[in-house]
Amino acid sequence: MIPTTPLKTAYPWTRTPFIASAPMRLIALAPLAYAVSLAGGLGFLAAGTDLNDLKRQLQIVTDLVAQTHLPGSSSDLPIGIGFINWAVDLEIALETLREYIPAAVWLFAPRKNEDLVEWTKKIREVSKGKTKIWIQIGTVTDAIEIARSCHPDVLVVQGADAGGHGLAQGAGIVSLLPEVADGMRGMEMESIPLVAAGGITEGRGVAAALALGAGGVVMGTRFLASKEADIAKGYQYDVLRTRDGGKSTIRTGVYDILRGTKGWPDRYNGRGIINQSYLDAQKHGRITDENKKLYEEALQKGDQGWGENGRVTAYAGCGVGLVKEVKYAKEIMDEVRQDAADVLSKLSRATSNL
Ligand SMILES: Cc1cc2nc3c(=O)[nH]c(=O)nc-3n(C[C@H](O)[C@H](O)[C@H](O)COP(=O)(O)O)c2cc1C
Repeated sequence: MIPTTPLKTAYPWTRTPFIASAPMRLIALAPLAYAVSLAGGLGFLAAGTDLNDLKRQLQIVTDLVAQTHLPGSSSDLPIGIGFINWAVDLEIALETLREYIPAAVWLFAPRKNEDLVEWTKKIREVSKGKTKIWIQIGTVTDAIEIARSCHPDVLVVQGADAGGHGLAQGAGIVSLLPEVADGMRGMEMESIPLVAAGGITEGRGVAAALALGAGGVVMGTRFLASKEADIAKGYQYDVLRTRDGGKSTIRTGVYDILRGTKGWPDRYNGRGIINQSYLDAQKHGRITDENKKLYEEALQKGDQGWGENGRVTAYAGCGVGLVKEVKYAKEIMDEVRQDAADVLSKLSRATSNL
């Protein structure tokens, strides 16, 4: 039996174990966020760094929600929205959040942690407390500082295995999550649920995260192989073909530079599948003009631009080796929840004789 957590109370349509889909910029849009919530999880829509299309996406979710009632959902929209803080203007975000009230807002990568205080306060004000504040952190120090200053409703504890952007230097969730939990207990803030992110792609990872003290999990990389993800076929195939994620992915700033993404605070980089762009940069100790040119050419090749011999970025986490098939988000959710429950009951039987 998996115990009910405060997350189930806050998001009554969700099932246990609690699973959220990550707000993946340009990929986790209305269809994926909605499908995950409909399947008993909490789907996050990625606002990312650019809010131009956000209202349109939220209207799509609103229309979908009007067609299918999610039992027990008290907020206007039973999904969350993820913002990359350093890149987004708070006032513009608030204007959207006044109009469309999501169940949660996920804050990540501020220029400085203090910026999150105002974000938290103002979002709570405009939503009259309906929108819960999730903050993604990657160190114990940040967890403690942010818990103290912002009192978030949820801390997303992102380990170094995570796909996409995260701290360049960090620990995996096996050591990070329990130490964050101890830190919260030390401040008598253990009531803040911790949600584990980074390397979790299936039931065994979920069971492990619960054993570490997580109240739920976030999966990003696994949902890259969902039918609802807004992802190029070449990228998705790259995810399916890649094995041995620790060896075949890398945390690097190379992909940001080639993509022309500027502005990430220094302590962040992104984990993606190793490709020829990265290998070239490594060989020359820098990104050469030739590398840039070949990257631009690869972009023109469409789906052929990805792959082992390709050059286009495929952000993905260390868990990529366990992702083997594209499925509907509901199938992923059902399978992962069931497998986690099976693992936990097997463990419980195995330990009852100890
Ligand atoms: C392709 C991709 C894009 C991502 N984009 C974002 C983003 O826009 N905002 C954010 O907070 N996190 C983003 N992340 C990180 C996720 O929030 C999450 O921490 C990560 O996916 C968890 O690790 P996993 O990929 O191993 O499941 C992204 C991850 C991936 C794989």
